[in-house]
Amino acid sequence: MDLYEHQARELFEEHGILVPRAEVAHSAKQARESARRLGGRVVVKAQVKTGGRGKAGGVKLAADPAAAELTARQILGMDIKGHRVGKVMLAQPVDIEREFYISYVLDRAAGRFLAIASAEGGMEIEEVAAERPEAVARVPVDPAEGVTSAKAGEIAAAAGLPPQTVDVLVRLWEVLVREDALLVEVNPLVRTRQGQILALDGKVTLDDNAAFRQARWGAEADAHDDPLEARAAAKGLNYVRLDGEVGIIGNGAGLVMSTLDVVAGCGARPANFLDIGGGASAQIMADGLAVILSDPSVRSVLVNVFGGITACDTVAEGIVRALDTVRLTKPLVVRLDGNNAERGRAVLDGHAHPLVEQATTMDGAARQAARLALSA
Ligand SMILES: Nc1ncnc2c1ncn2[C@@H]1O[C@H](COP(=O)(O)OP(=O)(O)O)[C@@H](O)[C@H]1O
Ligand SMILES: [Mg+2]
Repeated sequence: MDLYEHQARELFEEHGILVPRAEVAHSAKQARESARRLGGRVVVKAQVKTGGRGKAGGVKLAADPAAAELTARQILGMDIKGHRVGKVMLAQPVDIEREFYISYVLDRAAGRFLAIASAEGGMEIEEVAAERPEAVARVPVDPAEGVTSAKAGEIAAAAGLPPQTVDVLVRLWEVLVREDALLVEVNPLVRTRQGQILALDGKVTLDDNAAFRQARWGAEADAHDDPLEARAAAKGLNYVRLDGEVGIIGNGAGLVMSTLDVVAGCGARPANFLDIGGGASAQIMADGLAVILSDPSVRSVLVNVFGGITACDTVAEGIVRALDTVRLTKPLVVRLDGNNAERGRAVLDGHAHPLVEQATTMDGAARQAARLALSA
């Protein structure tokens, strides 16, 4: 579960990391009041669970409370990468001298954490990482040892960060451990002209395995800004919206991820990730199809199922029954393989829906779904 920036800010503050004074507002009027309490001049920041808000026009300086109200009115309701802005954070503006990047992220493959840090933080960090990878330090962190002052010194030195950041690096590690996070990121961490080190932006991803210890964040953090993701979550579906045109349904996260890659390899873009897991019942299929078909960007849908414990004929019957309740409005390409694949294909052939076609290989199915999407 990702936290909003204002929640990450709250955690940083609790762990002794300096942050600008800030308030959250849900309306333009509230924004004006907050700006007044914060001293007038404020930065108005869209609260959505995605990065790149600055570049999208979701972070703006307002000179006084009246300007804050106007700016909040512009930002509230904005769409940033598919996330609708429902609240803003008003923060005191900081006199930035330099911007840094620091983060800790779980490195599952290595069974460790990784500290990633750069003296060239800010909104261009992706470009820096792509064009000059040497400007971004990557230091493994042993989870049993954690980030001591000595380790933090090592990270700061590797990234060329000033010595004052060592304390923040230790505290940020405390946030990760104490709050059960899988990722903590500060971009930018800044040095002000007055010489203070402040966290101006924060991203925290909590480990859902520890959800029972995170009651504090309640339903709000769980809320999805994307209406389709919210609908899918309400149905218990493992769905993530992307920005392409080929809807994807598969069983098993690995297979779904590969399907996204194969579709991309065919020149189209996947519209979503949806893993229907092991029990591909008619209900799950119907719920998944309904969510995907209501995405206006979707032009074709690809169902890629490898029958294991759930046999392909059960999945095929699930699709047929789902089509009784969901009106298919876009072409559906189905690839069934594995346990009882032949029987599954026969079930779909027997149903002979004009918008449903079958493919026998994953590549073939992806090519067909991509072709249908691009020609629609
Ligand atoms: N309180 C603040 N005072 C001054 N500048 C700020 C403040 N908050 C953000 N900024 C500037 O705006 C940029 C973008 O804001 P940020 O919160 O990092 O959003 P995002 O990373 O989503 O674009 C930052 O890199 C920083 O330069
Ligand atoms: Mg940022």
